[in-house]
Amino acid sequence: MHDKHLLPIPAGDLLYEAASVACLAPSIANTQPWRWSVGDGTLDLRADRTRQLTIADPQGRLMILSCGTVLHHASIVLAALGAAATTQRLSDPDDPDLLARLTITGLHQVTAEDMRLHHALRTRRTDRRPFLGLAPLPDEVIALLCNASIPFGVTAHEFDAQQTGMLGLAVQSAAIIENHEAAYREEAATWTRRDPSARDGVPPASAVAQVARTVAVRDFAPAGTPGLAVGPGDDRYTTYLAFSTVHDTPADWLRTGEAVSAVLLTAATLGVATSVMSDVVEIAGARALLHAAIGPDGYPQLTLRAGVNESAPPIPATPRRPAAEVIGKN
Ligand SMILES: Cc1cc2nc3c(=O)[nH]c(=O)nc-3n(C[C@H](O)[C@H](O)[C@H](O)COP(=O)(O)O)c2cc1C
Repeated sequence: MHDKHLLPIPAGDLLYEAASVACLAPSIANTQPWRWSVGDGTLDLRADRTRQLTIADPQGRLMILSCGTVLHHASIVLAALGAAATTQRLSDPDDPDLLARLTITGLHQVTAEDMRLHHALRTRRTDRRPFLGLAPLPDEVIALLCNASIPFGVTAHEFDAQQTGMLGLAVQSAAIIENHEAAYREEAATWTRRDPSARDGVPPASAVAQVARTVAVRDFAPAGTPGLAVGPGDDRYTTYLAFSTVHDTPADWLRTGEAVSAVLLTAATLGVATSVMSDVVEIAGARALLHAAIGPDGYPQLTLRAGVNESAPPIPATPRRPAAEVIGKN
């Protein structure tokens, strides 16, 4: 069936559902910098610049990357519901915030993988604790993670031990430079100490205390008490990946977000714990170090840590804004 009019329920209802569930996607500091509009069989995605981190992310790279994660999440929901949809990535100089359009084209034969990814989307969490695994992730698992980014034209590069050391230094220098700046500290405080009614930001409940490790994780409870115990892990066998693109345009940032979503959800289907790290790409010098570490062929857009932590206590869900605030009608 290739006609949206033959769907058993209205396309607009399906798209509203997809947009609302997709908001479980990860975003920089849980800013949820997106807006959806539902039309007749189409769902438009826009960046919400009022939610941009203007100090940490002045270009809006991580804002658009975050919009890519929500775009990919929406496509996963539609697939699991059995709706065939196309994704158009848009680039209109007169309307730069309009990023993409999903269009329902008919019915889709749901696969087991669609269902696994959809389930993962509802249960995935950012895990900032040191991972416990006593051995490296199997090569087969790392290949599954890296391959998930290929359809988006994004490379996921695995760090070897030496590159991991360099990543650690780059992250450390980025954190020193950022925390030295009052405006950065103020912006970080804004998004880590939110009024609960805003239903956004990173709550202390999902933060972890600072501990010595090869690659530090950003401190999300600088003035408060982190909610997660460090646990017995020490990140000894944690795998680090860098996502990179051949160019460095908004279209590349959007596709990186889609790739990151695909990799995070694939990891979650395998029980692999993850967290992404952007501090190292927020500071030009640290990003250049990373660029040198992974080779000159691509612009690093984001890094990710992955490992085994299934025995650790569950992480509470971070809040999301109500669907009605984020989804409008055309
Ligand atoms: C572009 C981007 C950058 C992020 N940067 C960091 C980071 O530097 N450190 C970190 O611990 N988490 C980072 N995160 C994870 C978000 O803080 C997290 O997704 C958000 O708080 C929602 O929580 P959840 O992933 O558990 O749903 C980032 C996420 C995205 C999409």
